[in-house]
Amino acid sequence: MNIVLIGFRGTGKTTIGRILARRLGKGFVDADEYLEQKEKRTIRDIFQEDGEGVFREIETKVIQEICSFDDKVIATGGGAVLREENVRNLKKRGVLIFLNTDINIIYKRIYGDKRSSQKRPNLTHLSNYQEIKYLLECRRPLYDKIADFVIDTAGTSLNTVVRKIIALIHGHVRDLRKE
Ligand code: S3P
Repeated sequence: MNIVLIGFRGTGKTTIGRILARRLGKGFVDADEYLEQKEKRTIRDIFQEDGEGVFREIETKVIQEICSFDDKVIATGGGAVLREENVRNLKKRGVLIFLNTDINIIYKRIYGDKRSSQKRPNLTHLSNYQEIKYLLECRRPLYDKIADFVIDTAGTSLNTVVRKIIALIHGHVRDLRKE
């Protein structure tokens, strides 16, 4: 079984995923990093050279490939679950955990750090804050709906988030055994 972290940009999927994988002794796969290694170019370059449509096609193929792995912790890109096909694939062998947090925390995480903001291409023509607000409004209901578990990370330390996920996973596995 894979543990799949979903949620908006800047919600800590990669950082938390790495720690979680180490604690559970599982392998870690960051879908965006995997995609960049396969493509041999950055996501920013893909957006600039070919546009978002091409990026989403590549992302779908990458998700399909990653979903054939087992026993991994997987961090997904914030828009990966916009396609039903990706959600279906991720759910086949995965428990989906939505890392939910506050808009201001997301804004600070993305734009308070130059490396982080440069890495992330704009997805609309809105200003940075308005883009997050708009996309969060569109996506939050989807993240909520498809997630097996939701974890609010605002004001919570990384360690606590990781501990909560481990507790949920253990409970979930027991639930599955009961069936
Ligand atoms: C995207 C999020 C990014 C990356 C791409 C598109 C999105 O991943 O996949 O820039 O649509 O929200 P992170 O969530 O890791 O930043």
